[in-house]
Amino acid sequence: MKGVVLAGGLGTRLYPLTKITNKHLLPVYDKPMILYALDTLKRSGIGEIMVVCGREHAGHFMHFLGSGKEYGVKLSYALQDKNDGGISDALLYAEDFADRDSIAVILGDNIFENDFSKEISAFTSGAMVFFKKVPDPERFGVAVFDKSGTKLIAIEEKPAKPKSEYAQTGLYLYDFNIFSYIKKLKPSRRGELEITDANSMYLIRGELTYSIIKGKWYDTGTFDSLLAASMELAKAAKGKKQ
Ligand code: DAU
Repeated sequence: MKGVVLAGGLGTRLYPLTKITNKHLLPVYDKPMILYALDTLKRSGIGEIMVVCGREHAGHFMHFLGSGKEYGVKLSYALQDKNDGGISDALLYAEDFADRDSIAVILGDNIFENDFSKEISAFTSGAMVFFKKVPDPERFGVAVFDKSGTKLIAIEEKPAKPKSEYAQTGLYLYDFNIFSYIKKLKPSRRGELEITDANSMYLIRGELTYSIIKGKWYDTGTFDSLLAASMELAKAAKGKKQ
């Protein structure tokens, strides 16, 4: 399976840092954010990866990552024309790269302790999402389960009153239908093509599976979450050295 790192968007929540460079090149403890996403895909057995980024600071990505050889992966790049088009809009740029095959998609501001090799090698069709129990689900896409507590019946994007504590993380496995589903999407209230709406199309068709991740997970898109991730990763790295 090939992989896609979505690294577009405006990064307005991290302004003025994102006036200097793209959010995904900012440091998280001792390395630029995007290296964590690349590493998650690499640890999951994926070696061929497309980075989708915005036009602004696009050169910074290529200058830093190059062909990917230094990081043990083979990289290609695509530019998202409208940098606030939404996550699903960014993914559309990887359609030719996917070449009718399934793909693993990771948001460039997500850091996972887990790898996903098992799920990736078992994946055949439909889509798969990964949830994590969090104290602040309203910041994320949130899982809605039926009364049994195991059947996923909906995913709500940043609900004011979350119906569970399970956040949708930024790792998704899709078959090639993802591209035709995204093309049917309408922009949300915030004017973006949402990844949650694409996932819901699979859910409605009974083609969405999920897993709950046990390892640590960080979304580093805000000052507080960026700082918290840096501190925790620093602590973990120092712990390993001792
Ligand atoms: O981190 C997990 C969350 O990511 C999920 O729980 C939500 O369901 C999902 O919508 C998303 O929410 P965010 O508000 O965190 O998304 P954000 O706008 O920060 O975008 C996440 C990444 O997606 C960003 O780091 C780069 C990429 N992106 C985003 C947009 C809006 C693009 O490549 N292009 C875009 O136009």
